[in-house]
Amino acid sequence: MGLTFPCYSFRMAARAKIAVVTGATRGIGLAIAEQLSQRGFRLILVGRDERLLAKIAARLPNSTAHACDIRNPESVARLGAALRKLRRVDVLINNAGIAGPLQPIATLDFATWCEVVETNLHGTFLVTTAILPLMKKGAVIVNNLSVAARTSFPDMAAYNASKRGLLGFTDTLREEMRERKIRVVALLPGATDTAIWKQFWPNAPRRSMVAPDTVGRLVAEAVTLPLNANVEEIVITPSAGKL
Ligand SMILES: NC(=O)c1ccc[n+]([C@@H]2O[C@H](COP(=O)([O-])OP(=O)(O)OC[C@H]3O[C@@H](n4cnc5c(N)ncnc54)[C@H](OP(=O)(O)O)[C@@H]3O)[C@@H](O)[C@H]2O)c1
Repeated sequence: MGLTFPCYSFRMAARAKIAVVTGATRGIGLAIAEQLSQRGFRLILVGRDERLLAKIAARLPNSTAHACDIRNPESVARLGAALRKLRRVDVLINNAGIAGPLQPIATLDFATWCEVVETNLHGTFLVTTAILPLMKKGAVIVNNLSVAARTSFPDMAAYNASKRGLLGFTDTLREEMRERKIRVVALLPGATDTAIWKQFWPNAPRRSMVAPDTVGRLVAEAVTLPLNANVEEIVITPSAGKL
């Protein structure tokens, strides 16, 4: 998968901050992209569905689509190379993720385990390390974890493990970035009304869930805080508690 629009700078206005959003084709990632777009960010939209990304890029001003599978080191290296032409990234939203099907550990197959861990944990590592050299003082990284980073849901071992691992990665990254004044935010949403539920609970009661747009608004506020402040964690859950 290659670069959809090779010359980013051609499509973008001069001074806007640059945000990269992974998993921008739908759900929470799309909602964050929309909120950042409303606040004048230039957007690099990342996902696997090239056609859908192009459609969204055509709708959001100053945005560019870049098809990339975050599990694939070569694909992420191409993303990094394309971004180097921009010289800087101000905000990185590591949002892309999957849940996988519900399976007790006793019958969980290794292929499913690998797919979930490679996407959520390895993919976030690959994207972060590809983009970090382009981030300067004042930049912000948001890693979309889940309440599963702290609470273990039965039959979701790969998801729980990947998100808990990602919490460790995120906390370490925050400490390592303090000297560079790059802020790192852990986003821990509870049940949010997106397509991810089709993977493990298709008939989940969507009406009780948080709207993706609500999460998007919180994230956009967090990444536009003044340089001397950081929200280290955003925890947002349905007000009704359990679904
Ligand atoms: N919804 C919830 O209740 C909830 C709660 C807590 C945390 N989260 C987290 O929020 C994040 C977004 O999930 P969502 O609920 O918005 O789900 P979603 O609607 O299924 O969106 C997932 C996004 O990730 C992208 N993606 C998946 N695998 C990818 C890969 N290998 N490379 C690049 N992009 C990939 C998908 O795009 P393509 O398929 O086009 O590649 C899609 O844009 C996930 O990390 C999830 O764990 C969700």
